[in-house]
Amino acid sequence: MDPVNKIAVLTSGGDAPGMNAAIRAVVRSAIYNKIEVKGVMRGYEGLITNDIIPMDSKSVSNIIQRGGTILKSARSKDFKTKEGREKAYNNLKKHGVDALIVIGGDGTFTGARIFGEEYNIPIIGIPGTIDNDLFGTDYTIGYDTALNTVTENVDKIRDTASAHSRLFFVEVMGRDAGFLALRGGIASGAEAILVPEIETDYKRLDNFLTNGFKKQKSSSIVLVAEGEKAGGAFNIAEKVSKDHPDYDVRVAILGHIQRGGSPSAFDRVSASRMGASAVEALLQKKKNVMVGLVHGEICYIPFEKALKDKKGLNKSLLDLMDILSI
Ligand code: F6P
Repeated sequence: MDPVNKIAVLTSGGDAPGMNAAIRAVVRSAIYNKIEVKGVMRGYEGLITNDIIPMDSKSVSNIIQRGGTILKSARSKDFKTKEGREKAYNNLKKHGVDALIVIGGDGTFTGARIFGEEYNIPIIGIPGTIDNDLFGTDYTIGYDTALNTVTENVDKIRDTASAHSRLFFVEVMGRDAGFLALRGGIASGAEAILVPEIETDYKRLDNFLTNGFKKQKSSSIVLVAEGEKAGGAFNIAEKVSKDHPDYDVRVAILGHIQRGGSPSAFDRVSASRMGASAVEALLQKKKNVMVGLVHGEICYIPFEKALKDKKGLNKSLLDLMDILSI
């Protein structure tokens, strides 16, 4: 592999709090190692349309605390085509870029894997998604902040639920994964969680809620992951209301507020470590790998493995959820 003199960095897919901290770490670590840095606007879209800007240490000042991404993000349809990727490669060459760092989730790494196979350009991935659904890393950037947002908001819902003795179904994000619902459920003291990884047993839920109300719980909260397969928060709430007209049932969808806000200290530190490690990986001549954090230590995992293997929910946390919600 040729020495790396100029790199480009982009953010792609759903934004996540802490992406700015990762961009900052990439830019500053590169400059520290005498590598020039370009920023690509709107993810792979900007690579195709040649929206590529110079970056220096000052261009990442005062951003570590900000949510969103200063480079903006997109889900590029054109990058899924051969022609799109060819344009992207030609633009990188035009700018003399010899390596790429991409910050995003599984869609971002799927694109990176294909691009890295088609063209001889080293690519390093940094996991940035609130879903925490990437294999090969315990945490993805943004997950911790989103988890805190879920917890704060469910706490607020609990206040009004208690005041009216209501049963709330609260839908949280996570695409096809239940990580936010599981930890969010434990952190907010939810009565139950419904996640895509476990088939919803309506009878069990019904018994559980009925017992809860019999025990005169002043409120009940069920966190429903958006990828739950029995129809989601609205459908389940409707069924429960029909079966128990005496229950006062409400639904709340937390939605995109989970993606915003100032990143937590944990996300800022993780993003800073991963950003610097991505540059370090290029210096070590690594390519087509994702940076991960496993048991607090930095590691590198091939895109292929990060995408193919599935990270499961922690069994002991699932058991804990059951124990604590009796
Ligand atoms: O991947 C992050 C995420 O927020 C998922 O939790 C959610 O399913 C999806 O993105 C929403 O995407 P969009 O903002 O494009 O609607």
